[in-house]
Amino acid sequence: MAKQPERLAGVDGTDLSGMEALVTGSTSGIGREAALALGRLGADTVVVHGRDGKAGAELVDDLAGTGTDAEFVRADFADVDAVRELAATVRAETGGLDLLLNNAGGFFRESRRTGLGVEYTFHVNHLSPYLLTAELLDHLREGARIVTTASAAHTGTSLDIERTTEPDPDAGSWAYSHSKLANVLFAAELARRLEAAGRSVTSNSVHPGAIPGSGFTRFLPGPLPRLVQLLDAVPGVTSVADGAAELLFVAVSDRAADVTGRYFAGQEPTQPSGAARNPQNARRLWAESARLLDVEEPLAEYARAEETV
Ligand SMILES: NC(=O)c1ccc[n+]([C@@H]2O[C@H](COP(=O)([O-])OP(=O)(O)OC[C@H]3O[C@@H](n4cnc5c(N)ncnc54)[C@H](OP(=O)(O)O)[C@@H]3O)[C@@H](O)[C@H]2O)c1
Repeated sequence: MAKQPERLAGVDGTDLSGMEALVTGSTSGIGREAALALGRLGADTVVVHGRDGKAGAELVDDLAGTGTDAEFVRADFADVDAVRELAATVRAETGGLDLLLNNAGGFFRESRRTGLGVEYTFHVNHLSPYLLTAELLDHLREGARIVTTASAAHTGTSLDIERTTEPDPDAGSWAYSHSKLANVLFAAELARRLEAAGRSVTSNSVHPGAIPGSGFTRFLPGPLPRLVQLLDAVPGVTSVADGAAELLFVAVSDRAADVTGRYFAGQEPTQPSGAARNPQNARRLWAESARLLDVEEPLAEYARAEETV
């Protein structure tokens, strides 16, 4: 039998009936496997997302086979309006969210700007989940869990928001690491503010592992992505199911139920880099993200007074 993330996460006995979930970036890779696992665990509704409509339709069919009511919503995370429409659809199609898995993202080799004048990777990997979460805050049920897929690649990078708005032909791997640092800071700041607001909603980030078998390597030229993906079946290599298990553990396990503001790796809360632990960085990222998106700062009244930008 193929490896199942719910078994790998030790949550295969969990009953998610009555629960509604959104998994972004679920047309491929670890998001797809995590969404299917939520279906097998009995979730009532799983909204799936990506840009690839064919892959989205296939996933909806596969989820229907688990008895789950699924809907695919297409939204390009480089497009602010599309993210707002995704949030509006989720609000219309679900009674409330119990699980929000902010997973969409990737390594984008080319250095380009989005309509906001912001570097593409920072916009897709950080600004869009920030905006989506802000738009869904009052749609989250009490007891909900927000899980943001970060990466160990966040280490070795300091916060440099200015660089995301300057011309930078060499953004490449720096842009990816920096966006993943933003994911860890975002999840922690969100947790602080939700706690201050008296919400019983957790927010954590997770490193899924280095997974060659997902679509992550699609930036490589020619046939390389398909060749690298063959590694998924090689014993000892972290598989897509292993990566999905990392998400699922934080989203579903009783052992993570009361944990918030943490960065998980290997199904354990783990210490992220110094830059990722710095609350002033988190506060600044939060405020600057709102400014770049031209929105009100979400949960503005719950910023810690001493952490002014
Ligand atoms: N694989 C690894 O080694 C690794 C390691 C650490 C962290 N991660 C993180 O894990 C997450 C999932 O990646 P994966 O490895 O599963 O790769 P993947 O198979 O390429 O999946 C990425 C997902 O994100 C979506 N996505 C990418 N760009 C998008 C955009 N502009 N707008 C909307 N959706 C977009 C894709 O949808 P479409 O294809 O439909 O556009 C796809 O569903 C990412 O956040 C990644 O940074 C991966």
